[in-house]
Amino acid sequence: MRVETDVLIIGSGIAGLRFAIEVSKFAEVYIVTKKDKAESNTNYAQGGIASVFSSDDNFDLHIKDTLIAGDGLCNKEAVELIVKEGPDEIQKLIEIGTQFSTTPNGKLDLAKEGGHSRSRIVHAKDLTGYEIERALLKKISEIENIHLLENHFAIDLITEHHIGKKRLSKEEKIHCWGAYVFDIQREEVHTFISKITLLATGGLGQAYLHTTNPPIATGDGFAMAYRAGAIIGNMEFVQFHPTALYESDSENRSTNPAFLISEAVRGFGAKLRLKSGEEFMHKYDPRGELAPRDIVARAIDSELKKSGDNYVYLDLTFKNPDEIKEKFPNIYRKCLEKNIDITKDLIPVIPAAHYACGGVVTDLNGKTSIENLFATGEVAMTGVHGANRLASNSLLEALVFSKKAAIACKQIIENKLFNIPESIPDWIDTSRLSSEEKILISQSRHEIREILWDYVGIVRSNERLRRALRRCQLIYEEVKYMYNESRISEEILELRNLIEVAYLITYSASLRKESRGLHYNIDYPFKDDKNFLRPTLVQNPLV
Ligand code: FAD
Ligand code: SIN
Repeated sequence: MRVETDVLIIGSGIAGLRFAIEVSKFAEVYIVTKKDKAESNTNYAQGGIASVFSSDDNFDLHIKDTLIAGDGLCNKEAVELIVKEGPDEIQKLIEIGTQFSTTPNGKLDLAKEGGHSRSRIVHAKDLTGYEIERALLKKISEIENIHLLENHFAIDLITEHHIGKKRLSKEEKIHCWGAYVFDIQREEVHTFISKITLLATGGLGQAYLHTTNPPIATGDGFAMAYRAGAIIGNMEFVQFHPTALYESDSENRSTNPAFLISEAVRGFGAKLRLKSGEEFMHKYDPRGELAPRDIVARAIDSELKKSGDNYVYLDLTFKNPDEIKEKFPNIYRKCLEKNIDITKDLIPVIPAAHYACGGVVTDLNGKTSIENLFATGEVAMTGVHGANRLASNSLLEALVFSKKAAIACKQIIENKLFNIPESIPDWIDTSRLSSEEKILISQSRHEIREILWDYVGIVRSNERLRRALRRCQLIYEEVKYMYNESRISEEILELRNLIEVAYLITYSASLRKESRGLHYNIDYPFKDDKNFLRPTLVQNPLV
């Protein structure tokens, strides 16, 4: 099948859906999404969206908190943009029917999270992402010129490479004209040709053994963009959430994803304790449990290494049980299913890979280095998060940049700033291997996740990174062979993307010879502003 459209959106999380609503005002839109339409990181977001609403808060404070967390690498302009446009974007979500939690006098209930100097987290109890995704999908379903296709897996972006045109110099622009998309149910690859393409494919947590991200988060957008020749930045800055629920089968490494215990729980006053009952966060940071995530995750990691334990505890037992159930109904219910009554029992927690601060580099309009390719949401590196994202700034960034990108697209469509060649070919399938080889695919996937967890995790070293790079190179060759020979399937496509992303994270980490934000290397334990107060940028040398 060949589809021609104005706009192709890859991904149906907050970034893709917010963009679709705006762009549908002047364009025909196709959204492809690889699973069920709601299945996304967005759907599992708990804490909320950071924004300035309280009378004791102001834009400058939110900007300052974001810059502090970002540890010198934020783009201040990008930060100012999301902070200042935040309240309007939240208002828009309310207008389309999102029901946020309110106080008895009808104002937005504002929670607190790590690194925030004020209470500014707008939330829908502890199911904020679910509520936002529900409201956005409902709105999309009412718009006639938006077509949403589930179980459609984008394989690769269509560029000059696919029409056999070589770039004469690195300065020559690459253009994006859509994507090849695998229809999972029909087992066919379709050609989507579009004037504008948005990558809104979300995160990459599944590259790590322990993660809070659902199985869709295999870094497809980062890998597709890298293969196409886009500039990718700051991939070493992977955020580990300090408090994912530890389950006894974590030791057997089978709980995937790990259930998140929201940072809002610490914002509500929960304490971290060692198995002995001793509190420890004050030894690491005067802000204690509410220090930024990199500090809390490293503190837990360090205590676990000292004690040899598998987890630490989060303690809410001294808080009012009714208030706990009222504020965190989902966490209360999920833990109870696992025989943990959080009003009475301590909650065993460990850090887990949570968020990619780096990604496809964009300008302030979400435009990438490839013509007519935009990227918003977690897959993008807009400059907002720098070396460490402030809690609950991610949903906010996705909203603001998706709107900005849609406005920029209007110019492109109205002024016909695209030139799509006639000669774009359809997909050619050259596969031979049978599906019995799926065991090889699942084994390689597991290996990648272990390598990243063991060698490119919370604490890194030169030797660990060297090891990881060598192993990634070997797996890369094996996967390349499997991909070229196997019948197309979700499994092989995800594996191909995971190894690409594993390499990007590891390689970027090996380039940063200092410790900053989320990147901590014991061989360079200090910040080196002279040489590294800049993003790490990489580009596919083969394009
Ligand atoms: P997603 O919401 O992940 O959407 C990506 C979409 O792309 C999905 O529909 C997916 O199926 C699709 N897709 C991916 N690859 C392909 C492909 N190859 N072809 C077709 N479709 C594809 N942030 C906050 O700000 N506040 C929070 O409280 C918060 N809590 C969180 C809690 C959890 C458990 C997790 C995992 C994350 C949380 N985050 C939070 C982070 C935040 O949820 C994400 O960063 C954000 O939702 C990303 O939105 P997105 O639209 O970019 O991507
Ligand atoms: C959480 O609820 O702790 C997640 C918030 C975030 O990732 O921003």
